[in-house]
Amino acid sequence: MADAVIAPSQGTATGSGAKPGVVAPPRVWAFGGGKGGVGKSVVACNVAARMAQLGHRVVLVDGDLGGANLDLMLGCERPAHTLSHFFDRSVASLAEVAAPTSIENLSFVAGDGDCLGAANPAHAQKQKLIRHLRRLPCDLVVVDLGAGTSFNTLDLYLAADLGVCVTSPEPTSLQNCFSFMKTAMLRETAARATADGASAANDGPARATPRPISLVVNRAQPAEARRVANLLHDLAGRFLGASVRLAGSVADDPQMARSVRTRQPLCTLAPESPAARELDQLAQSLWRPPVPQRSSPRMGINEEIDHEGARFHVQTEDLGVPTCAVRTQVFRGDGSVVFTRRTAYVDAFFARLAASPEDRVRLHHVAIVRALRAGRVEPLRRTA
Ligand SMILES: Nc1ncnc2c1ncn2[C@@H]1O[C@H](COP(=O)(O)OP(=O)(O)O)[C@@H](O)[C@H]1O
Ligand SMILES: [Mg+2]
Repeated sequence: MADAVIAPSQGTATGSGAKPGVVAPPRVWAFGGGKGGVGKSVVACNVAARMAQLGHRVVLVDGDLGGANLDLMLGCERPAHTLSHFFDRSVASLAEVAAPTSIENLSFVAGDGDCLGAANPAHAQKQKLIRHLRRLPCDLVVVDLGAGTSFNTLDLYLAADLGVCVTSPEPTSLQNCFSFMKTAMLRETAARATADGASAANDGPARATPRPISLVVNRAQPAEARRVANLLHDLAGRFLGASVRLAGSVADDPQMARSVRTRQPLCTLAPESPAARELDQLAQSLWRPPVPQRSSPRMGINEEIDHEGARFHVQTEDLGVPTCAVRTQVFRGDGSVVFTRRTAYVDAFFARLAASPEDRVRLHHVAIVRALRAGRVEPLRRTA
């Protein structure tokens, strides 16, 4: 029965770029982030539902081992098979657990909140689950993770192609989110350091450099989400040597609470609501190929200015991680530096403006060019 739930994959007609006839493994996205109640499940569930509406074959996996209840959010009957049947070998493959939902292209792998075995799978069972996620015949697997930083949660997060941290703007949620990022990085570093793979921490693929952390700020307006992302980016840069990328924000929207109460994903219940539109943007931006990230410097502005008969070159760049500052330098025509100003991301100059990384470079540049033009930069007056 369950074999018929997901059609055999013929590559991805919907955008993975696979050649016809070549079966491409699905992309795996995991939504985690520490604190309970911040919206991990609603974001994961709605991103999965929206991607299915857009024509991708999606499997949503309830990875909240021990607290699974995504079936309630999706409005599904409790499926005949759950992850417990996969762990106790009642079924041979994860694909047999996937049950259809009322949304076309969306299947669902239920967890089993009441089963202690599913809540605490043995090491080998967890590895098997991670292997089987990649064998699901679909385009995209979305894993909704539980709260906290248990090894099971972290390992599923690290095994994904894309780990997304979900937070609300509240300080308690931010603190939990940062500790989730930190613990995940420590576990990943431990996996990297274990060259022979003998460590229990080595379930996920080890990466040469930490990947950027994708962040979703839920129950926030875009400006507040940017402020939160800047703060976490600064902290991650200073203490973890990592960068944080704001993948999207979702407004606090009464339709969301209604969607949970009526057990219908927002994209079917109220597709025009503010949160549904933002979730649509989020889903589509996660699917697009990531823009290559340069750690240092990340971006820059160059400008020639004439001042009191002399020409100067003004260059502003984001120094990236781990310096976490923006620097503007002014060069004379002979290439010598006549002025340098460096401002940390955490400086009040940026903080009060809730600036995005691009804004920071632009604001720094403009402020210094203005000061130059107004003759407020002493070295220039001397060298002009
Ligand atoms: N953007 C939002 N607007 C309004 N209510 C929300 C929003 N996001 C989440 N909620 C409310 O918060 C509750 C908890 O969300 P949930 O996704 O279950 O959290 P988590 O999975 O992180 O524990 C939801 O049932 C919903 O009522
Ligand atoms: Mg949840």
